[in-house]
Amino acid sequence: MSKPLIPMRVNRRTSLPQFRGGPTHRWLDSCQRLVTFFALISIIFGMTYLPSLYMRHLKPVAFVWPANQTRDAYEMILPNVSTNLVASLCTPTSSSGQSSAKSSAAPVLVVVICSAVRNFEARRAIRTTWAQKDLVPPGVRIVFLLGRGQNFTGQNSVIREAKEFGDIVQENFLDSYANLTIKSLMMLKWYTQNCDKVPYLLKTDDDMYINLKNLHQILLANQKPNLLLGNLICGAKPIRDPYNKWFAPEYLYDSEYYPNYLSGTAYVLSRSTAKIFLEAAGSVPLFHMEDIYITGCLARFVGIRPEDHRGFSYEKRAILPCLYSQVISSHQVTPAEMKLVAAKLRRPLQCRPLKPAQLRSFGTGKCKWKR
Ligand SMILES: *[C@@H]1O[C@H](CO)[C@@H](O)[C@H](O)[C@H]1NC(C)=O
Ligand SMILES: *[C@@H]1O[C@H](CO)[C@@H](O)[C@H](O)[C@H]1NC(C)=O
Ligand SMILES: *[C@@H]1O[C@H](CO)[C@@H](O)[C@H](O)[C@H]1NC(C)=O
Ligand SMILES: *[C@@H]1O[C@H](CO)[C@@H](O)[C@H](O)[C@H]1NC(C)=O
Repeated sequence: MSKPLIPMRVNRRTSLPQFRGGPTHRWLDSCQRLVTFFALISIIFGMTYLPSLYMRHLKPVAFVWPANQTRDAYEMILPNVSTNLVASLCTPTSSSGQSSAKSSAAPVLVVVICSAVRNFEARRAIRTTWAQKDLVPPGVRIVFLLGRGQNFTGQNSVIREAKEFGDIVQENFLDSYANLTIKSLMMLKWYTQNCDKVPYLLKTDDDMYINLKNLHQILLANQKPNLLLGNLICGAKPIRDPYNKWFAPEYLYDSEYYPNYLSGTAYVLSRSTAKIFLEAAGSVPLFHMEDIYITGCLARFVGIRPEDHRGFSYEKRAILPCLYSQVISSHQVTPAEMKLVAAKLRRPLQCRPLKPAQLRSFGTGKCKWKR
C-alpha cells in the first residue's frame, strides 16, 4: 500500500540537483523577478507620490465651517430686515429720466453676476463686452452682487462705481469663499423683494461669458412653471480629503452622494422657483457649496428637478466665435477673450448649426432621482 510513496520521496530528493533549469528554478526565477518588480514600483511610488504626500501637509486645510457654526440660513440673511449697503433698482431707469425703448420693454430676465469688491477689472470687462448695450436683448437687466470686503479698502471705489453705472448691489455680509451660499441666498432675497415684475433670474460669476441673446430666446419660449436650468451634475460624491478645495466633512454632509445639482457657474430659475427656495432655506441646514445647496439640497427638499441644457458649461470652452454664437455660458473667460468673442458676435456670422455633443462634450453623469 505504501509502496508508491517511498519511490516518490526518494525520487524527489535525489532528483533535485538534476533539475536545474526545471520547475523549481523557474519558480525561484519568477519570484526574483516579482521582487525586483515590486522594488521598482516602490521606488517609483516613493519618488512620485511621497513628496506630494509630504507637501500636502504644507498646504492649508480647506476652510469649512466649524461644527459649532450656525447653519440657520435666516440667521445669516435676515429675510425680514434690510441688509442692503448699496442699492440698485431691478428695472433700469435711464439717467435722463426718459425711459428708452429697451428699458420700457417688458422685463424678462435679471442677470446677477456674483463679484467681489476687488474685482473692478472683471466688472469692467463684462460691461464692455457681453453686457454692453448692443448685445443685451430688451427686457434684460444686469447687476453685480457684492458682499462686504475684509476691510474698507476699495469700498469708496465701489460707491463711485455704483453711481457711475447703477448696476451694483451690495449686501451686508462678509464676502469670502466660505460664504458663497450666503451670497446666493442674498441674491434670492434681493430678487424676490425688488424684482416683482421680472419672471427669470440668472445666477452667474464674473469670470463667465454669457450669450444673452440665446438665453433670452430660451426664456421667451419656456412653458415650464418652476424652471431650474443649467449644467446638470449627477452622482457627485462628497470629497473627504481635507486638503481638497471641495472638502466636505461628514458633519456638514453625511450621505454618500450629493443630490443632483446645477453647476454654480450659471443657472437660470423662474421667479416662482426663487420664492420657493427662499422659503425652504428656513428649513434646510446651510451647506457651504452654493450650487449644491441651492440647486441640489433646496431643490430636492421642495421637489423641483434641476434640468440640463447643453448650452451651459462649467468648463472653459475653446475661443471659437461659431461655438459662442450657439451656446449660453462658458467658464474662465479672460477679459481679453471676452473682447475677442464679443467683437465677433456683434457682426453676423456664417456658422453651421452644431450638434449637441459639439456644444458640450460631456454629459450629466447617470441621473437617478429619489422623487
Ligand atoms: C466655536 O468653537 C471655537 C473653538 O473650538 C470657538 O473659538 C468659537 O468661538 C466657537 N464659535 C461659536 C459660534 O460658538
Ligand atoms: C418674516 O416675516 C413673516 C411675515 O411677517 C413671518 O411670517 C416670518 O416668520 C418672518 N421670518 C423671520 C425669519 O423672522
Ligand atoms: C484689506 O484686504 C485686502 C484683501 O481683501 C488686503 O490685500 C489688504 O492688504 C487689506 N488692507 C488693510 C489695510 O488691511
Ligand atoms: C460669513 O458672513 C457672516 C455675516 O457677515 C460673518 O459673520 C461670517 O464671519 C462670515 N464667514 C466667513 C467664513 O467669512
